[in-house]
Amino acid sequence: MPAAVLAGIGSALPARIVDNHELSTRLDTSDDWIRTRTGITERRISGPGESTADLAVQAGEQALRGRGADAVVLATSTPDQPCPASAPQVAARLGLGTAAAYDVNAVCTGFIYGLATGTGLIAAGIARSVLVIGADTLTTLIDPEDRGTVPIFGDGAGAVLLRAGEPDEPGALGPFDLHSDGGQAGLLWVEAGGCRKRLTDVPAERYLAMQGTAVFREACARMAESSVTVLERAGWLVDNVDRFVGHQANIRILQATAKRLGMPEDAVVSNIHRVGNTSAASIPLALHDAHADGTLIAGHRILLSAFGAGLTWGSTVLSWPELD
Ligand code: UT7
Repeated sequence: MPAAVLAGIGSALPARIVDNHELSTRLDTSDDWIRTRTGITERRISGPGESTADLAVQAGEQALRGRGADAVVLATSTPDQPCPASAPQVAARLGLGTAAAYDVNAVCTGFIYGLATGTGLIAAGIARSVLVIGADTLTTLIDPEDRGTVPIFGDGAGAVLLRAGEPDEPGALGPFDLHSDGGQAGLLWVEAGGCRKRLTDVPAERYLAMQGTAVFREACARMAESSVTVLERAGWLVDNVDRFVGHQANIRILQATAKRLGMPEDAVVSNIHRVGNTSAASIPLALHDAHADGTLIAGHRILLSAFGAGLTWGSTVLSWPELD
């Protein structure tokens, strides 16, 4: 059975930078509160020409570097339209012809679910190469008046190209651990805009509602639990992990999860200070930045773990490959 091997990476961010000082001029908040409670200093906010699909195409182009892909899996909870999925348009714009293309919606865990889906397509012999993109413009779902969510979220995209290879090759993904708990969907959700309740002018229904403290607690517990499971499945000890690339929701969640796992703080990879929580884009953006600045080098053993609305959570591992 072929393994899915990471063979390329790319990222894209909107041009507009919004720092904490700018937010504190229009909301009852401060740079100090946001930095100490979340680790975020600034985030990118999408504007015209920077939809989810626009960002996904930019990140995808970088990951492909002129190569093709048999399938595109776009992890997003903010597609350009409610129907159809955005992945086929992204595939077409990337010049991938009639490649299979579909969206996966597991919100902030979307990229891990997307990697698992891409790995499955390769393992089943359905595709030899899969472009997995995590892209979100979650700020379009944020109430501009809500100081509980505005400081946290940002927009962006990250992408990886997976190719068929051998399980013991550097870059081979897996095993995986994936979970959900729909019984707790109400901790983090947008009530209206779907088929049950169509578009509405009521802010409390059309924007993301988040019970922050409960989500924080669940995120730490579930990411730690899932990481333990995936490390056991991989036959790795915590000490074998060189870098922990978790969903960039809050630096304190990443630090608390690492602590629960007994991992040193310097194993934690984070770019949250400059991008905020970019939902499905968060892990590939963090991987891209860490690769670019040398925090990740070939041979590093990496644990990926995410948690998000749904609720959903999941983890996987890989050894970082040589990439151009
Ligand atoms: O991708 C998954 C999605 N989301 C997450 O993972 C988010 C998880 N949750 C969190 O990251 C944190 O819960 C938050 C960053 C959202 C909030 O941090 P917290 O440490 O849990 O703060 P809190 O909600 O307990 O609020 C502490 C205080 C409160 O004031 P009092 O009651 O102590 O006087 C809040 O009213 O901070 C106040 N507060 C703020 N103050 C200034 C809440 N938001 C703000 C704000 N600026 N933006």
